Amino acid sequence: MSKVKTAFFCSNCGYESAKWLGKCPSCNVWNTFIEEVVERNSKEKNLWKDISGERQTSKAKLLDAIENVKEERIVTIDAELNRTLGGGIVSGSIILLAGEPGIGKSTLLLQDALQLNDTILYISGEESEQQIKMRANRLNIRNENFYILTETSLSVIFTEIKKLQPSLVIVDSIQTLQSENIDATPGSVPQVRECAASLQRFAKETYTPVFIIGHITKDGNIAGPKILEHMVDTVLQFEGDQHYSYRILRTLKNRFGSTSELGIYEMTSDGMRMVNNPSEILIHQKEEVLSGSAIAAGMEGLRPLLIETQALVTQSVYGTPQRTTSGLDTRRLQLLLAVLEKRGGFHFGVKDVFVNIAGGLRIDDPSTDLAIICALLSSYDDSPLSPNICFAGEVGLNGEIRAVNRVEQRIAEAEKLGFEKIFIAPFNKKALNKTKYNIEVIDVGKVDELYRLLF
Ligand code: TYD
Ligand code: MG
Repeated sequence: MSKVKTAFFCSNCGYESAKWLGKCPSCNVWNTFIEEVVERNSKEKNLWKDISGERQTSKAKLLDAIENVKEERIVTIDAELNRTLGGGIVSGSIILLAGEPGIGKSTLLLQDALQLNDTILYISGEESEQQIKMRANRLNIRNENFYILTETSLSVIFTEIKKLQPSLVIVDSIQTLQSENIDATPGSVPQVRECAASLQRFAKETYTPVFIIGHITKDGNIAGPKILEHMVDTVLQFEGDQHYSYRILRTLKNRFGSTSELGIYEMTSDGMRMVNNPSEILIHQKEEVLSGSAIAAGMEGLRPLLIETQALVTQSVYGTPQRTTSGLDTRRLQLLLAVLEKRGGFHFGVKDVFVNIAGGLRIDDPSTDLAIICALLSSYDDSPLSPNICFAGEVGLNGEIRAVNRVEQRIAEAEKLGFEKIFIAPFNKKALNKTKYNIEVIDVGKVDELYRLLF
């Protein structure tokens, strides 16, 4: 009996090697090699070519001789999705929608695709026809051109595609697909790579856009092969906290648009609802003002977003004070506390500090620093801040308040939501085009000045 052929793959980038390696020569990450069974059954590498039967040979062409084609886009009813894609689904593009299991990837694509007028093929290797039907009933949308195929074999899928000639294909999920050309388990690096390559070939040759759903692991990597990111045109990441109903759709890569776009949804009992004005929901409407809360005029993508930051500072009961954060990098909090300790003379070293970003959001925008510092001071002092003020500034290591980008947009958003004062960096204030706002714009240069200004 012949021995089974195996190879080793880097689970981070998909690099293939005949023997096990400690460090990947391609992405330089340690301990990522896993052994996978690989056995090619056929000499032909690409399944779509096998089935489509077209075997055209490629020729080098002059750039000038290539016809200009108008970039055609399918515009969906979902404005958030259109925006993250840069204005709609480009024909022939291959889009990866990545997210943790249960976040709502299937729901989002099913909901948006059901509202298109073209022939759509939804391929599911994860759910039965009945389950998808139940989900569609729950979404309460009817569509007469919507086809479901519950199949994992790539050759069967391509045969169906050839018969049906859909204008959009959705694959849920890439980790369940299996190509007969290669003997490896579904979800393994070689299998995912092979299936994605075939789908890519299909998309480019027929100008059919393909959505691929991919699961990500706990540490945020697209399961197994990071290589998928290189193979597709657009990578969208769907994220959010399981315990909150808000979901954020982020563009990580886009060959046809900007990567700073983002869409916000709310998961409801009958599908995803677009959130047009996120600030209004994120800011907690409350009757009494409590200490330890400050509003940051942040940005999510290109959109201004007012976010509530909360801090709780208590006397430490253990020898080592605790620093716990949710929605914020703990190291960022440690840095801010060190600045307050050294430049402001506040003794956080004997206090436990907890910081939370309301609404289950995760922020990495440094312009929220100023609000976090104010929330910390407010809780430290146990004196509430006025509910009508907000902040936009980055805090430097010397305790200086640094300028942030798009400050005018942030001010406008704060003004729109009825805030009375906004604190910004002096450099930002100097550069403001408009001098007269309905909202009072106050500049603050150092963290130690802040305390006097606020309390
Ligand atoms: P799903 O789309 O299956 O997630 P994924 O494909 O990313 O794994 O979403 C699963 C969750 O969504 C599940 O917990 C039920 C919930 N849900 C709603 O809250 N409202 C709905 O209308 C639907 C269809 C699902
Ligand atoms: Mg799913």
